[in-house]
Amino acid sequence: MNYIEVVDLPPGQSPVVAETCYRSAEALEAGQILFLPRHGFPLSGSYQPLFSSPILHRGSKTVSYSPSTGKLYGTASTRQSLSLLEEMMKRFAIFAQKTVTRLLPIYRTGLVRARTSFRPIEIETRPMPWRKDDKRLHIDAFPSSPIQGNRILRLFCNINPAGQTHLWRIGEPFEQTARRFLPSIKPPFPFSSAALMLTSTTKSRRTFYDHIMLCLQDRMKRDQRYQEEAEQVKVEFPAGSTWLAFTDQVSHAAMRGQYQLEQTFLLDINRLHDQSTAPLIVLERLKGRKLV
Ligand code: SIN
Ligand code: FE
Repeated sequence: MNYIEVVDLPPGQSPVVAETCYRSAEALEAGQILFLPRHGFPLSGSYQPLFSSPILHRGSKTVSYSPSTGKLYGTASTRQSLSLLEEMMKRFAIFAQKTVTRLLPIYRTGLVRARTSFRPIEIETRPMPWRKDDKRLHIDAFPSSPIQGNRILRLFCNINPAGQTHLWRIGEPFEQTARRFLPSIKPPFPFSSAALMLTSTTKSRRTFYDHIMLCLQDRMKRDQRYQEEAEQVKVEFPAGSTWLAFTDQVSHAAMRGQYQLEQTFLLDINRLHDQSTAPLIVLERLKGRKLV
């Protein structure tokens, strides 16, 4: 399996040739990571205070910015660095959106911008309970925001000012992991999705699909043997580079690195070139029934 597809997207806004756009979408949908070594998020020296002052609230691992409310969450910044932080997050959100629409024009009409996040602490030494620990191989699924079969597309930038690389492990293809854990995943209790909505635990209906994806994430993270023995590779992303992946599909673990920006997009499953590799379609095939 080829884990990475390199796209030499030049800096600037020049149009991308159709063949590259097609190859990029095809690689992402096949479960590969799209790596853009020359396409970094530009940051001038005036942002330096963000790399030296305390930015996070106690207990939070990321600062996030919601484009729908225009608010920042998880930060304990003082006034001056707060406005700098806000400016960086907003600029990055635009950079991410432009990159995706330039490289993946077929997704443009089905793309919704979700959270933007900044991760200023060193991952390697950050203590985390297993369920929240991104150093364990996992796929992404959101407990409070069901995605009902649509896709999670994420764009990451390593903005480490000292030039430190960002290290990931990438695991086996989605279907292999699904086949491994699916037999142990039971259906949700009757009426549980209604109860989750009534208690505002979820923002919309947690479908059988969302239930399976959350269970899958848990099973993967909890299983020490899987963590050690599943087929996997290590990949380093240099400072100044950008990468994208469907993180609902790609088994990933962030092992080392500090100062990273990330933009989440939700993508309508109907916009894919090839739906057959989407987690919803793979799981429906394996279960022999509709899941949303
Ligand atoms: C994750 O999505 O698991 C975290 C990625 C990272 O911090 O590199
Ligand atoms: Fe993740």
